[in-house]
Amino acid sequence: MSVAIPEPVLWFDRIRESDGPHRDDASGKYFVTRYESVRRGFLDERLGAPGLNLAKVPKELHQSVIDMEERYFSRWPVFSDSPQRSVARRALMKHLRVVDKGTIASWVDSDEPTWNAHRPFTSQWLLHLLKRSLISLLDVEQTQFDMLLKWSDEITGYLSAHPLDRGTVDRATDALASLEEFVIKNLQTAEQGLGLHLRSLLEQQQVDQSTLVGLYGQILTGTLEPTLSAIAVALEQLTGRRERSDEFEFDGARFTHEALRLASPFHYAPRRALEEVEIDGGLIPAGSDVVLCIVAANRDPGMFPDPGRFELRENSSKHLSFGLGGHSCPGARLAHQLCEEVTRACLDLARNAGSRPVTFDWDVSRSMRKITR
Ligand code: HEM
Repeated sequence: MSVAIPEPVLWFDRIRESDGPHRDDASGKYFVTRYESVRRGFLDERLGAPGLNLAKVPKELHQSVIDMEERYFSRWPVFSDSPQRSVARRALMKHLRVVDKGTIASWVDSDEPTWNAHRPFTSQWLLHLLKRSLISLLDVEQTQFDMLLKWSDEITGYLSAHPLDRGTVDRATDALASLEEFVIKNLQTAEQGLGLHLRSLLEQQQVDQSTLVGLYGQILTGTLEPTLSAIAVALEQLTGRRERSDEFEFDGARFTHEALRLASPFHYAPRRALEEVEIDGGLIPAGSDVVLCIVAANRDPGMFPDPGRFELRENSSKHLSFGLGGHSCPGARLAHQLCEEVTRACLDLARNAGSRPVTFDWDVSRSMRKITR
């Protein structure tokens, strides 16, 4: 049975109830939606990085998509199983500076330029906060931020586009080419931190340039869109009910996990079956495309009863929003901390917002949930 996918959460919910792994006839992909199966799927080495799947790409775009994917995305850590990916991943984890509480609170206090007393929590304001984190992580100039943001928008625009059109592909290709140029220059001049470390790995030939460009691409897209999304969900919850501020003060870490569980920024992680795999009693043939549906696992009522409800649960931290295993998100700690500390710094503001719950405008696609800016 093939089903059109109007709204990912509902569709994933439906197939989780009906099948273990669900084969979609139109795309030939297997969708895994139950919590335990998705969890095991992340840890199963027989499910490797995904290859290119052109099933849903309009014919006239095939060649440009193949060119772009081969030249750029094939070396992004998340889309590759190469040993270089592990080297790049370790380097990032070593240099991820977790930002301390006081620093984030001072950003919130001093953020005059984008602050609006009548509508305090805007997407632009959140973006402005994250800008500081990205600038310090990548060691870039303030003035380069708008350019990085534009590339990130164009790349995530391509990754979440459905259906795909030529403009989206062309913009993403240009953005990736500009990012490549930028990374090469940035590495040449890096004098400290992550950049310097990566340059020395490059010189020792432990990692190649394309893998590093991919790593920067993922840092860029990871620090912005999904982190903004997680913070926005936490702020909506915080201001949605009066008692939420007390719940946050009681356990801010769990509050943040619950926000990530309730509305995971990325809806799924793609994989390719390297050999035949049995999941939930269903056989997935070697070579198949497999979709590990994070958003459905996080809302599996067998694991999280009444899953659409926000509540501090014993197991809120068991969400799969950062994946698990060999490809799990190396930025998870930083993203979680940014989300928790921005929310903490907004507690007083939220209390003052009183009866005015904050809501963001959401752009929910098959692959992710983002706030519109
Ligand atoms: C709330 C924010 C974030 C979410 C929800 C998120 C989610 C994820 C998920 C689900 C994966 C695994 C995909 C898979 O298994 O196929 C992943 C991988 C990755 N993320 Fe994040 N991420 C976030 C923030 C970040 C940040 C802040 C960074 C960098 C500073 C980052 C860098 C990466 C990288 C490099 C990978 C690839 C890891 C690999 O394949 O070895 N992410 N992320």
